[in-house]
Amino acid sequence: MGKQMNDKPVELIHQPVMLERVRELLGPALSRPQATYLDCTLGLGGHAAALLEDHPGLRVIGIDRDRAALELAAARLGTGEFRNTTYDHLDEVLESAGITHVDGILMDLGLSSLQIDDPGRGFSYLADGPLDMRMSRDEPLTAADLLGEVSAPTLAKMLRSLGGEVNAARIAQAIKAAGPVATTGELVSVIDGAVPPHLRGNGHGAKRTFQALRIQLNRELLLLEQALPKALSALVPGGRLVVLAFHSGEDRLVKAAFAKAASDRAPAGLPQVPPELEATHELLTRGAEKAGAKEIKANPRAASVRLRAIQRRAVGKVA
Ligand SMILES: C[S@@+](CC[C@H](N)C(=O)[O-])C[C@H]1O[C@@H](n2cnc3c(N)ncnc32)[C@H](O)[C@@H]1O
Repeated sequence: MGKQMNDKPVELIHQPVMLERVRELLGPALSRPQATYLDCTLGLGGHAAALLEDHPGLRVIGIDRDRAALELAAARLGTGEFRNTTYDHLDEVLESAGITHVDGILMDLGLSSLQIDDPGRGFSYLADGPLDMRMSRDEPLTAADLLGEVSAPTLAKMLRSLGGEVNAARIAQAIKAAGPVATTGELVSVIDGAVPPHLRGNGHGAKRTFQALRIQLNRELLLLEQALPKALSALVPGGRLVVLAFHSGEDRLVKAAFAKAASDRAPAGLPQVPPELEATHELLTRGAEKAGAKEIKANPRAASVRLRAIQRRAVGKVA
């Protein structure tokens, strides 16, 4: 058993999502001699530990913006190179490890249970705590600061586009009228007071606001958009990238980046595609794959997952 956190073994804090499918998809790329695996979202190292078990001798490079998670994963894995940064810096991380390309990459997006389940991190609308929501505590701005700085119209737009909140304008106005909001509990009551019962949608009334604030504060979509082309370029021929997305905004970016890499770049009407304009990658999944009912029952976090995978072909240069 690994290092303990709140009396819980690290293996039990976070359950890796779609683990068997990730193993299956990355397996052929990681079984090559001296293969290197880049985990862009190491978290508690659940996926990495299983891949190391499948491929002893695998070189593991792990990135996480959350120092606490990275330290727990490093202790759990006992081997590997660990970098506390955001994954849009993956090219610099590889350079610092003395390489440019890897055999397999995983991006398991969003939050780990270490972050969600700790009220002190401020991600949960179910427990009271400081309104923090920083994935990295080295970042200066908290969600409380963000709410203080943003105007009501900008906040409403954010809640609508990143959270899909239909009552965005009401909620944004109520938050700004409430003055400084310091705790998750205060934010939940402001949201509750802003939306009359007959206008409330499915699920917890604060879910969509919390999701939007977290995505905005941590610049999640921006960093993902910057990281995807770098991850595609960092694969060796035959190398594989698997991405697990947890909301539609993320999955849209993954789908678009993969579709571009798996399309040729020849002008329409050309009778034959020149080799240098051929698609650099091929899709390994048809559409987005979802977790099975059994996994969702055991781990409700898997309910929203969308998995996509792609492989680098042995042709051309990545645009
Ligand atoms: C879902 S968890 C990963 C869990 C991991 N696969 C496991 O099995 O234990 C996502 C992790 O990615 C990290 N993360 C999210 N966005 C990141 C980014 N842009 N750069 C680096 N790490 C990020 C989070 O801090 C979190 O620890």
